[in-house]
Amino acid sequence: MGPMIEEAASVLRRGGLVAFPTETVYGLGADAANASAVRRIFEVKGRPAGHPLIVHLAGAGRVRSWARLDRVQAAMVDRLAEAFWPGPLTIVVPRSDLVASETVGGRDTIGLRVPDHPVALDLLDCFGGGIAAPSANRFGRVSPTTAEHVRNDLGDSVDLIIDGGPTEVGVESTIVELVSDRPVLLRPGGVSRSQLSATLGVDVADDRAGEARASGMLRSHYAPQALVEVVAATDLADRLHTLAADADEGQAVGVIAPIDIDHAPSWLLPADSEGYARRLYASLRAADRCGVAHLLIVPPSDGELSDAVLDRLAKAAAPRPEPDPA
Ligand code: TXA
Ligand code: MG
Repeated sequence: MGPMIEEAASVLRRGGLVAFPTETVYGLGADAANASAVRRIFEVKGRPAGHPLIVHLAGAGRVRSWARLDRVQAAMVDRLAEAFWPGPLTIVVPRSDLVASETVGGRDTIGLRVPDHPVALDLLDCFGGGIAAPSANRFGRVSPTTAEHVRNDLGDSVDLIIDGGPTEVGVESTIVELVSDRPVLLRPGGVSRSQLSATLGVDVADDRAGEARASGMLRSHYAPQALVEVVAATDLADRLHTLAADADEGQAVGVIAPIDIDHAPSWLLPADSEGYARRLYASLRAADRCGVAHLLIVPPSDGELSDAVLDRLAKAAAPRPEPDPA
């Protein structure tokens, strides 16, 4: 364990904020049991209170300290942990009193995850407790997949940023809720609904609206500055043509697609859903940097992560909240 990890753990013990890599996206971490440290996360992100944070743990053995499980829930958590932890799966269960109420947005449940990244696991081991960490971006923006993204979004308001290189999965974890008598998918991610159903031996219900409802959130999320429109590969040429004819001076149109097209500015992503997911957020940020006003995005072909990617694209393309009349 390097000096950087020890320094990071002591920042957390002092109630500070540490941005760190996970296999999905970078997290903005604080001691999950420290209410004032967690309040700083909300401040720095500009995130509304009441929007619960995921608590990251060093291993499945820690779940029993943070959760209060009945026998059925305990058996389901064991199965999921065995199959997918460490990994891109967050499990929402009834909580214990160890977690600060601020961390879970005042709810009686908690989202738990053991991340699959050597830096995150070292930090969790060295710190010893649970690390509450949302994605390390400003609220409503695209999640960071590099340390540079974190620096650009949050800069000096974070005590320490650990650079672990670009993240592997590129989109946020799958969230499954084990609270009522049947498991519910709240957010698709690196672990698919069919994998969850197969592992649990019961059908996992799909309730994406649940994530929004749970957090009282607008549909628009994970959005770049540019207006986003999702188009089929076969419609791309027509759409570009129309936009070019209508475009105001300086209204740059950009394209993100798994197919090579002759258009500037454009970003070519891998055709497989894993490669596409890994690079998507960096491309959204690059489009913003290039001043793209209108972004046409062609989704990836089918694959393990296509569900998660389509979900994030739909959110990026959803109507934006009205700006504050301030
Ligand atoms: O991959 C990830 O999950 C990343 C990395 C850093 O672990 N984290 C992440 O956190 O995406 P965040 O805060 O950006 O998204 C967490 C989501 C929120 O939509 C929140 O509503 C949901 O998890 N969530 C957390 N705790 C919950 C709970 N107790 N009940 C329902 N939803 C919960
Ligand atoms: Mg987030």
